[in-house]
Amino acid sequence: MSDDTTPPTAAAFTAADLAQLVAETFVDHVDHHEEIDSTNTRAKQLADANPADRSTLLVLADHQTAGRGRGANTWWSAPGALTFSLLLRDRAHNLPAHRWPQLSLAAGLAICDAIDEVASNSRTLELAASQLKWPNDVYLAGKKLAGILVESTTGPTACIILGIGINVNNSFAAAPPELQTRATSLQDAAGPTFSRTEVLLAVLKGLAASLKSLQSAACSLRPAYSRRCLLTGRTVEVALHDRNITGKCQGIDDDGALLVETASGTERLSSGTVTRFV
Ligand code: BTN
Repeated sequence: MSDDTTPPTAAAFTAADLAQLVAETFVDHVDHHEEIDSTNTRAKQLADANPADRSTLLVLADHQTAGRGRGANTWWSAPGALTFSLLLRDRAHNLPAHRWPQLSLAAGLAICDAIDEVASNSRTLELAASQLKWPNDVYLAGKKLAGILVESTTGPTACIILGIGINVNNSFAAAPPELQTRATSLQDAAGPTFSRTEVLLAVLKGLAASLKSLQSAACSLRPAYSRRCLLTGRTVEVALHDRNITGKCQGIDDDGALLVETASGTERLSSGTVTRFV
């Protein structure tokens, strides 16, 4: 968050904010919208329309009206949320294909680290440690703070669209009741208004480091992920494409798969949705 002398930027992103994002991160261009349905949808349209363009693009919305989540889920966000999508073109190709599924884990870690950094930049702010619910959710104090939606295009110019929604200044006080019990924002958890630009810069800088380490064959996200894993040691119910399983979560392995100890042995899950955890 901003210190006492700097007014926090809860309002629209300014031209100076956008210039700073390009100057200080790996983003080549910003496609900024005051209001848009979904930044992931827009990023996909831009990828399809300009296959020869290999630059890294940030699609950024002040307010998203029809955000999409995993599967058929929607992403509800009132004004004040931080919603963006990264269109990774050549950067996707620099990553070995078997690493692509680990991008949402790497993004989750970058979000957690960014939140810690923003909190520690403040002299007064104390936030609980953020945690990761495999594979794509960030939790704060038991409620969902951020979600990640990774999509990709196919063919020789295939690229990755990494969509991230972080509840920053959007209070859930006015949200539908079922959301109030399940979701939180930085403002709800900590009180003050945060600079969305500061949070975004921190996430992008962390992501740059994650993308670089995912290129290395020796990299494992497991140690860092284990420190943040919300599910380790808990009983989890996981919906797979053809069945549901229940068991005790043993964390993730070096490839980012979830390990669940069931009555019939340890299951190694490379995809799925954790529908319940206790
Ligand atoms: C989930 O929790 O299921 C994933 C939510 C992802 C939401 C973000 S907001 C920015 C980007 N654009 C979208 O339409 N979705 C992602």
